[in-house]
Amino acid sequence: MRLDVISIFPEYLQPLSLSLIGRAAEDGILDLKVTNLRDFTEDKHRKVDDTPYGGGAGMVMMPEPWGRALDSVRPAGAQGPKPTLIVPSPAGAVFNQQMAYELAEEEHLVFACGRYEGIDERVVDYAHENFNVIPVSIGDYVLNGGEVAVMVMVEAIARLIPGVIGNPESLVEESHSDLLLEYPVYTKPAAWRGREVPEVLLGGNHQRVARFRRDEQIKRTAARRPDLITQMDVQSLNRRDRDA
Ligand code: ADE
Repeated sequence: MRLDVISIFPEYLQPLSLSLIGRAAEDGILDLKVTNLRDFTEDKHRKVDDTPYGGGAGMVMMPEPWGRALDSVRPAGAQGPKPTLIVPSPAGAVFNQQMAYELAEEEHLVFACGRYEGIDERVVDYAHENFNVIPVSIGDYVLNGGEVAVMVMVEAIARLIPGVIGNPESLVEESHSDLLLEYPVYTKPAAWRGREVPEVLLGGNHQRVARFRRDEQIKRTAARRPDLITQMDVQSLNRRDRDA
């Protein structure tokens, strides 16, 4: 997968060269490029923002550098499939695991990190000509810019790409893959500071272990995220329960 990130703070994205994502880039599974938006300014001060028309607090990112930066990723009028352009914004659709699965199938993702009060809206409008544009929020709170949101999304997406994670089995049972939260996990020692590992896990009865874990998932989800229970498809839950 090709990944482009455009930002005025390329250093912010440096952690993407670490750990599993960094290794995937070294192995050629990910082709990750971070571009400095200021490289597309044409003035001495490398200015990227200006005051908002209509007044109000803060500054707005100017269209010219953004237009040139996006054209450098995909020249205007280019043929072939449009890359997906993700614009992190508290005003976007909320990112979730389903979105991560869908985006992990894409050939080319581009992230446009806004700062200040956001990017001039005409940039987003123009970008539709060359990209499939999706404004995405990582949650109902406001960050100072899109960079941290991009790190969250890239990590969630990249780990779903075959070859990025050593053991793909670990992707199957984890939280949110079927709207139930993950069950609790334990390792040695079997007793620690007066707390015991649930006995069923010590016995080696795979069916009982599966049943226990399933029950814990349901209890945990009902307690912590009742909203997920109400979204659940009862038929598929029954089917999974029969198989567990
Ligand atoms: N930029 C500022 N806040 C954000 C959020 N919650 N999600 C994505 N990008 C943002």
